[in-house]
Amino acid sequence: MKVLVIGAGNMGLTYAEGMAKSSLLNHRNLMIFDKSAEVITTLSKVDHFDVYDDIEECLPEADIVFLAVKPYHCDSLFEEIRPLVNDQQIFVSLMAGVTIDKIQEGLDVKKVVRSMPNLPAQVGKGVTSFTEAKEVSRVELLMIRNLLDTTGASIHVQTENFIDASTGISGSGPAYVFYFMNSMLEAALKMGFSKNDSKILVSQTFEGAVKLFNESDLSPSTWMDRVASKGGTTRAALDSMDENNVEELIKDAAYAAFDRAVELGKE
Ligand SMILES: NC(=O)c1ccc[n+]([C@@H]2O[C@H](COP(=O)([O-])OP(=O)(O)OC[C@H]3O[C@@H](n4cnc5c(N)ncnc54)[C@H](OP(=O)(O)O)[C@@H]3O)[C@@H](O)[C@H]2O)c1
Repeated sequence: MKVLVIGAGNMGLTYAEGMAKSSLLNHRNLMIFDKSAEVITTLSKVDHFDVYDDIEECLPEADIVFLAVKPYHCDSLFEEIRPLVNDQQIFVSLMAGVTIDKIQEGLDVKKVVRSMPNLPAQVGKGVTSFTEAKEVSRVELLMIRNLLDTTGASIHVQTENFIDASTGISGSGPAYVFYFMNSMLEAALKMGFSKNDSKILVSQTFEGAVKLFNESDLSPSTWMDRVASKGGTTRAALDSMDENNVEELIKDAAYAAFDRAVELGKE
């Protein structure tokens, strides 16, 4: 099995590195292509995969092709590679908002998997949702899932609507967490902690809370009750959030990203 990643930016490189570190592929079976000469020069020094600056040399060799260019580059990419693809190849798109139909039409192929990754994939803690065209077999899908899992975890969803929905939760989600972290950092600094101490206080709090959550069957609201006692400090903070409707505002934000993903898919 030979895999080609088209687009060696944040996501393409992250997936290439995840797959390279796994035992699924030997590095001669992993190819990466980018149109930028600068990127190619930098990557040529890396020994994890074969780097190509000529699509004609690598694309016909590939069984699985990851599409990792920006969504607004997809039309020009499709035009460029359409004459080189064949209908046995499987195309795995990481592109936000680009539908399976559009990829099938743009490339004149059938086997397409659409996925939505997120940024923590860079540290092996990503989560990718994915769904497929009906022409992708179960065995092929399992193979793709194993490749996606090299950057963290994955969930299989039944329809593309869930890909857009997961954009609102996990795709854009890291930014919501950073937003919350940023507010807590600013509060810590305002209280007089040094930058370094503020960072330790905030990052350990996030990491610790996630670990507690992951290592138990308790819901976040049960954990909230465990931290908060009646008339105590945490209750004061949670009451302040409730009075300001923070929960609803966070839900609205997730829906704003979901709606925008749907909108982008129509553009
Ligand atoms: N970053 C995220 O957190 C994230 C999360 C979820 C989904 N995604 C999806 O992942 C995809 C990639 O995003 P990214 O952040 O990795 O983008 P990026 O850093 O801009 O990387 C894309 C790379 O592809 C190159 N490229 C553009 N057109 C090409 C072509 N025709 N042939 C070969 N290479 C080409 C670009 O070169 P130039 O720079 O010269 O154009 C760039 O090096 C996007 O579709 C995005 O929706 C990203």
